[in-house]
Amino acid sequence: MEKLYGTGEVAVHALIDVCLELPRGELVVFVGPSGSGKTTLLNIIGGLDHPTNGSITVAGQDLAGLPEAELTRYRRQKVGFVFQFFNLVPTLTARENVELVAELAESPADVGQVLESVGLGHRADHFPAALSGGEQQRVALARALVKRPDLILADEPTGSLDYETGIRVLETMRAVTRDSGHTVFLVTHNSEITRMADRVVHLRSGRVAEIEVNAEPVPPSQLRW
Ligand SMILES: Nc1ncnc2c1ncn2[C@@H]1O[C@H](COP(=O)(O)OP(=O)(O)O)[C@@H](O)[C@H]1O
Ligand SMILES: [Mg+2]
Repeated sequence: MEKLYGTGEVAVHALIDVCLELPRGELVVFVGPSGSGKTTLLNIIGGLDHPTNGSITVAGQDLAGLPEAELTRYRRQKVGFVFQFFNLVPTLTARENVELVAELAESPADVGQVLESVGLGHRADHFPAALSGGEQQRVALARALVKRPDLILADEPTGSLDYETGIRVLETMRAVTRDSGHTVFLVTHNSEITRMADRVVHLRSGRVAEIEVNAEPVPPSQLRW
């Protein structure tokens, strides 16, 4: 699969010869320097963007062949997104932020249970401004989880958090994979975070440079940066 931005002399080859097959139920970390193609790859997997050439199949569905309306449905129903900046609705409580997404989902999980699962049961009625950055990011994760998606995609989810709150978010992500069998793809430029992954995809200049399997992922609490 490849992705080209622009045309002619200004064309940027963001992804080149990417050929990957990833199993369900793992926490996969995509790592590489800035500009290596991480966000582009994640956006294509999430149906936010199209590859220029080649194919991409998620949970048996070929995304490259999907008409736009189907792709929107795929994004809404099958994928939970978590971004660097939490994108919560400031005028809604944590619970209401999650409910908003649950109402649009085909077969949502129980909102209260999902908030419990990310450790926010006691914070459900707080507004985002009254929550720490790490708590806000866990609301964002709850919002992704409540759809019961096939896949959770997180682009630099700790990028705007301090160390302690970042670790809490990573612990929650680790737990949703291990305890509930979710598939999580996490993008980072921080190589320390790769130690908590089941599998690590190294990107360099738009190419997959290496894929590592971690037999014994390290608990996030042991990561240091
Ligand atoms: N919308 C765009 N238009 C043109 N070039 C882009 C666009 N988005 C990303 N790029 C380029 O594609 C390459 C990969 O970018 P990106 O996927 O954002 O990398 P990363 O997330 O690893 O920092 C970079 O050279 C970047 O400048
Ligand atoms: Mg990026």
